[in-house]
Amino acid sequence: MKNQLIDILAENIQELEKEEIASALEIPKKTDMGDFAFPCFKLAKIYRKAPNMIAEDLTKQILEKNYDIFSKVENVGGYINFFFAKEQFAKQIMNTISAEDFGSSKVGEGKTICIDYSSPNVAKNFHVGHLRTTIIGNSLYKIYYTLGYHLERINHLGDWGTQFGKLIVAYKRWGSKEAVEKNGISELMKIYVKFHEEAEKDDSLNDEARAWFVKMEQGDEEALSIWQWFKDISLVEYKRIYNLLGMEFDHYTGESFYRDKTQDVVDKLNAKNLLVESEGAHIVPLDEYNMAPCLIMKKDGSSIYATRDLAALFYRKETYNFDKCIYVTGLEQKLHFAQVFKVIELLGYDWYDQLVHVPYGLVSMEGGKLSTRSGNVIYAEEILHESIQKIYEIIEEKNPDLEDKETVARQVGIGAILFNDLYNQRIKDVVFNWDKILNFDGETGPYVQYTYARCASVLRKAGDVVIPEDIDYNVLTDEVTMNLLKDITRFPDVVKDAADKYEPFMISRFAVSVAQHFNKFYHDCQINVEDEKIKMARLKVVSVTMKVIKDALALLGIECPEPVSYTHLRAHETLRH
Ligand code: ARG
Repeated sequence: MKNQLIDILAENIQELEKEEIASALEIPKKTDMGDFAFPCFKLAKIYRKAPNMIAEDLTKQILEKNYDIFSKVENVGGYINFFFAKEQFAKQIMNTISAEDFGSSKVGEGKTICIDYSSPNVAKNFHVGHLRTTIIGNSLYKIYYTLGYHLERINHLGDWGTQFGKLIVAYKRWGSKEAVEKNGISELMKIYVKFHEEAEKDDSLNDEARAWFVKMEQGDEEALSIWQWFKDISLVEYKRIYNLLGMEFDHYTGESFYRDKTQDVVDKLNAKNLLVESEGAHIVPLDEYNMAPCLIMKKDGSSIYATRDLAALFYRKETYNFDKCIYVTGLEQKLHFAQVFKVIELLGYDWYDQLVHVPYGLVSMEGGKLSTRSGNVIYAEEILHESIQKIYEIIEEKNPDLEDKETVARQVGIGAILFNDLYNQRIKDVVFNWDKILNFDGETGPYVQYTYARCASVLRKAGDVVIPEDIDYNVLTDEVTMNLLKDITRFPDVVKDAADKYEPFMISRFAVSVAQHFNKFYHDCQINVEDEKIKMARLKVVSVTMKVIKDALALLGIECPEPVSYTHLRAHETLRH
């Protein structure tokens, strides 16, 4: 309808381009001022007339042509207010939002995005910080996927570096095969801590550790087999978490993958004379750009984090020929990525501007209290299970007859954590407060999922109905219904915006807004009534709302609980005829 309005305005105002008209159009704050308002102030210069006179003349001119899309056109001051013929407006909105591919697009077709996220450090537990990159990264993946991009999901595991030399020493001195096999990462963490305690007293342990890492870099079989074992054990735990979250990666190419590719980085930098020796180490000075130097090679000739990130970039560009490479990490790595991107630029590669760091804030428990057993760090797996357990208890108490309680508790428990991590701008810190996160009435995952279940239940109660192609759109023209429908129309723009800004929170806000509008509709407009016309039209609204909620939550990585008795009917599909 907006496009038709723009066409009509362009027809009547030859002096303005369509784009100018489109950007000038306003949506009035109050519905009694129309669906759109066109301000005539800009035209004053062109016509050399007062804006209100112009508005008056244009209004007359438009009214004379009797366009059938308007129910009313009126001039107030320097504005022309347009009221769409409600029934037709409702029909057009309905047609738009009930399209199967509503919300998705093809803008990304033919383009590739590498997205580097999660990336935990081997032999260390997966904590809530890593949970956050996993959740944000996965959501960005879904958002870009829905816009038609081809994606490579990369888990850049922290699986290389001197810490593995330390672990090998620790294992050889204080570890046991049985304990590691039994306790997994926790055991590795334990002996790692022990190493640091002992190394305080005996510095030679550090030399020993460095020597083991050098052995690893030189391909020593014993060193590498212990390292590989630690890595396998860690991956079992990480994959257990990814499984629980329903998430996957295309590549587990961690830092170790680049160990034979770092010399090439050094060569490239030398060829451009960018490397400078400083206290035995090799660096790229960046003071000209107000940054600390980028360390490339340590005194003993070994590579570091940044070297491997540069190697990874050359590899990714060559292998995937990305149009964009995104990194999702905590804000504390901001400088690191700025340095790496700068070095790429200094090397003369024009694709430095395709590299994007997407940082996020900290995660903490409200009041600084940690409810987990493990001390200072909050472990992701504990939090997830705790959430599932708490939801399970709520179901037991409120709805003990629910079918497949385990599945629903998992979907809602996990959904609650994901939603909470994605509800504010990334950069804001996330605070855990169980009462808020799990509140079915708040701006939460459970609230939106509950609204979805409510839609499902309305459809279920309606029985096995087939909604006719042609519903009575007049039924939908009341303000509450129209507000819901108009809110839903925002979906494609919201998705695009979220992608442009790397901000999944725009989607979660949208989902809450639709759920709130729906609940108002549910409250004000009786659905399962005698009058078939009213019933069918409203059932269609329910079915459309249900789909958009499901699609929006899917972009956040959140599943919707499907009541068993409902799914077997496949009513959603029946309703689409
Ligand atoms: N392993 C790192 C960490 O836990 C994150 C890696 C991010 N990706 C990268 N290419 N540097 O902090």
